[in-house]
Amino acid sequence: MRIILILILTNAEERRDMRKTSIFALITSIFVSTIVYANEINVFNARHYKADAELYSKFTNKTGIKVNLINGKAGALEKRIIKEGADSSADLYITADAGRCGAFKAKGMTQGGLTSAAIKAAVPSNFRTSHWVGVAKRARIVYYAPERVTGAELSGLTYESLADPKWKGRLVIRKSSNIYNKSLVASLVKNNGKAATAEWAKGVVANMARTPKGNDRAQIMAVAAGEADIAVGNTYYLALMLSGNKGAEQQAAAKKVKAFFPNQNDRGTHMNISCAALVKGAPNKANAIKLVEFLLTPEAQEHFTNNTFEFPMIDGVSPNPLVVNNLGLDFKQDLKTKVSSYGAKQADALEVMTAAGWK
Ligand SMILES: [Fe+2]
Repeated sequence: MRIILILILTNAEERRDMRKTSIFALITSIFVSTIVYANEINVFNARHYKADAELYSKFTNKTGIKVNLINGKAGALEKRIIKEGADSSADLYITADAGRCGAFKAKGMTQGGLTSAAIKAAVPSNFRTSHWVGVAKRARIVYYAPERVTGAELSGLTYESLADPKWKGRLVIRKSSNIYNKSLVASLVKNNGKAATAEWAKGVVANMARTPKGNDRAQIMAVAAGEADIAVGNTYYLALMLSGNKGAEQQAAAKKVKAFFPNQNDRGTHMNISCAALVKGAPNKANAIKLVEFLLTPEAQEHFTNNTFEFPMIDGVSPNPLVVNNLGLDFKQDLKTKVSSYGAKQADALEVMTAAGWK
């Protein structure tokens, strides 16, 4: 492009002083090449879902903006951005937990700017800040074995009541270091206070059927195998297992459990988000905002719901049929507890879990 431009300009200006022309062409070509090379965005992506790459290709096809995808674990990506400081190429940090986005903001690593009319119209206020916004939703719920857990036992179940001795030896949940648990317990600290949550954590540990191990799908597997009666896990994992994408064994296990949405009679079920954070000093800020706006379009939202089985962030897009049929849609979400409070309460959450002996 630079060469063609120089030729055109040289022909048009040939009656003039060649020296002036050369300088003009050089300056112009630098300007044009800056535009060409700047038409990109650097996405630091901690979501571990393969399908996301296809979504970014769709954005490139639509806008011409090249997406440089830097995949990694959340902690490693955050460390890298912090270490690179002002030199970092990171524009957007995308990860699957509001607590992470909140904590990253608290470290001063993000900036405001995700406040366009399109973003505000798409995302309810409790799922966004000016520095980071939710692009998809998930709930952290209870899975149970229908043949061993009665309707009466489930009736009115809350996160708080997971500490009830009636669940002794019947509960599985992953480690306290897990970010989803940290955010869930952070929401309990926010709602019930640290002291009450510390007591609660002791009760939960006393009810565990085994020392915490494995991911959310492993907890569902444990219930299916009869190792426990109830498990805590995110909504999309059941649908993922039912889809068969994780193999026949997990698919069969998923069919043996049912989903229950806690706290329906009070504040609602704990919600979390996949979030996109605008990195401080982002070299391609305008493109970052464009990408976030794209992620909130029906096309992108459908991509999320059908590939990762999350709930859409926007109205008018339906979750995947596996979610609709096996998890339901008519549940009360906790919209009272702002997801931006999770990051601030994570340290308290980990402290009370650790003190209770939650591995
Ligand atoms: Fe996950």
